[in-house]
Amino acid sequence: MSSHATSYHSPKLQARQINGKGGRALVVREPVEVGELVVVWGGEAVHASRLGTLSPAERLLTIQVEEDLYLVSAEDGPADWVNHSCNPNCGLRGQIALVALRRLEPGEEVCFDYAMSDGSPYDQFTCGCGAAECRGQITGEDWSRPELWKRYRGYFSPYLQQRIAAKLAARRGLRSHRNGGREATRQGRRT
Ligand SMILES: C[S@@+](CC[C@H](N)C(=O)[O-])C[C@H]1O[C@@H](n2cnc3c(N)ncnc32)[C@H](O)[C@@H]1O
Ligand SMILES: [Zn+2]
Repeated sequence: MSSHATSYHSPKLQARQINGKGGRALVVREPVEVGELVVVWGGEAVHASRLGTLSPAERLLTIQVEEDLYLVSAEDGPADWVNHSCNPNCGLRGQIALVALRRLEPGEEVCFDYAMSDGSPYDQFTCGCGAAECRGQITGEDWSRPELWKRYRGYFSPYLQQRIAAKLAARRGLRSHRNGGREATRQGRRT
């Protein structure tokens, strides 16, 4: 089989060398409308137990897609060069597709918040996104920040959306348990 990138990027985008963030980026060539598909990643699905066997270069081409599953590009390409930003212009649609969160203008770097995809510490680094709201350190726990749940609602990977739903349900349960406790006390006083 011939050697070709295993992922798709919109023809409205192009690869670019940059300073910092590993040196490569995907940038906008022609305007992209809100909701438009920009990237679809492909590759080999690798179980968490095999992550340790990947080379550092392969790890750079990896995105977490499920609790214990990671997608590794078989062939390095521009779609793999989407960097992280704490103020992203793109978000996930499902596990392996990226869409524009707003209209993208030529020259802009395509970026998403890795908190939308990552739920484990396989790709942690000091952030150089330069956004006012930059978190500084990017970790596998960032998805659990409640301020991001509302901001990225509908743009988290489905397995993370499930984790968030479980946390929200637990919070609601705790609240109603507390309320129930108050109710019981009030009733106790009445009788
Ligand atoms: C999928 S690669 C992105 C492509 C990468 N720029 C390259 O040249 O190979 C992910 C890696 O890029 C780097 N990176 C991405 N976003 C970054 C950011 N905001 N600040 C610093 N490094 C970043 C980190 O090393 C991260 O592990
Ligand atoms: Zn940042």
